[in-house]
Amino acid sequence: MNQKDPSNMISNNEKLAADTLLVRNYLACIPEKNMLQDAERQQYRHDIKALLKEKNAVLVAHYYTDPELQSLAEETGGLVADSLEMARFGRDCAGDMLVVAGVRFMGETACILSPEKTVLMPNLEATCSLDIACPIDKFSAFCDQHPDRTVVVYANTSAAVKARADWVVTSSIALEIVEHLKSNGEKILWAPDKHLGRYIQEKTGADMLLWDSACIVHEEFKAKGLMDMKAVYPEAKVLAHPESPASVLAIADVVGSTSQLIKAACELPNQTFIVATDQGIFYKMQQLAPEKTFIVAPTAGNDASCRSCASCPWMGMNSLQAMYESLRDGSNRIKVEPELAKKAMIPLQRMLDFAAQHRMRVTGKA
Ligand code: 13P
Ligand code: SF4
Repeated sequence: MNQKDPSNMISNNEKLAADTLLVRNYLACIPEKNMLQDAERQQYRHDIKALLKEKNAVLVAHYYTDPELQSLAEETGGLVADSLEMARFGRDCAGDMLVVAGVRFMGETACILSPEKTVLMPNLEATCSLDIACPIDKFSAFCDQHPDRTVVVYANTSAAVKARADWVVTSSIALEIVEHLKSNGEKILWAPDKHLGRYIQEKTGADMLLWDSACIVHEEFKAKGLMDMKAVYPEAKVLAHPESPASVLAIADVVGSTSQLIKAACELPNQTFIVATDQGIFYKMQQLAPEKTFIVAPTAGNDASCRSCASCPWMGMNSLQAMYESLRDGSNRIKVEPELAKKAMIPLQRMLDFAAQHRMRVTGKA
């Protein structure tokens, strides 16, 4: 098409106007959590606390969710944690209902491990790019092509993918489980996160065949920007989640799951940390180490207007309002079909049993 032709220019302008309107309308529909007036925010907090009590419900929140929700979980006897701890706590806690602030796979895991509990989520659309990029039909065909391999899947997958696996792992226990499988002489088929898979492969030397997908949030961290930032803060330690690209992990001082990064932030003597993971984690880091400084790792090149977009769009769907409405109406209930749940429970239980034994080996406590 000739861009200079006046008739094309008119249609281009019209298209631009239509696109602008579309984007404006889209933005207008996004619930603006930061725009809640203080009184409104307090009212939601009050009502959510009352509903949790009334329904004998427990709130479990991931470290990436809005600090409002993390503090609510803490204040109501719930839990703020990484995905492994969320699963374990959800299974073991008393209560008839679990409210999971996180993404869909976390709600499904809670449902599989606690079939007797009602599991609600503020927003059922909150998914994960890893889950989306690993559809069960393609994944199952991939497994069928490699029957000699032990199938290990990351927790960030659907119930159907878990049901096809021998093991489920989260980032806080993946290294130990793969190490264990390697020592048994097992060859591994790994899915879906290629960066975490490659990191574990490198650490353990295990024979791993990797599925090819990545987390859209962590994939954006840039080694070049990180090096520039290190030059500005030479005393800072770099903390990175293993879903980040290899070039970023190579620069990191500590690589670990969300809970492992929080532990490092507390235990290392340094004052300043550059953190390559979702910014929601800063709430807990700052709470546990108030005297330290945490800086989000850059996700953009020098020309970009946004210096860092380290924010999971799906975790961000968990708002006070959505949580209140789901609790009030009993809506957004997560269900996993019982036959599928039974199958997915096997590799999940294997992980939890291994984690319990491992903890016993490491700490000497059950
Ligand atoms: P953790 O298991 O470390 O909490 O990570 C979950 C996740 O989704 C990271 O992006
Ligand atoms: Fe998934 Fe990445 Fe969001 Fe974690 S941060 S839930 S891996 S998209």
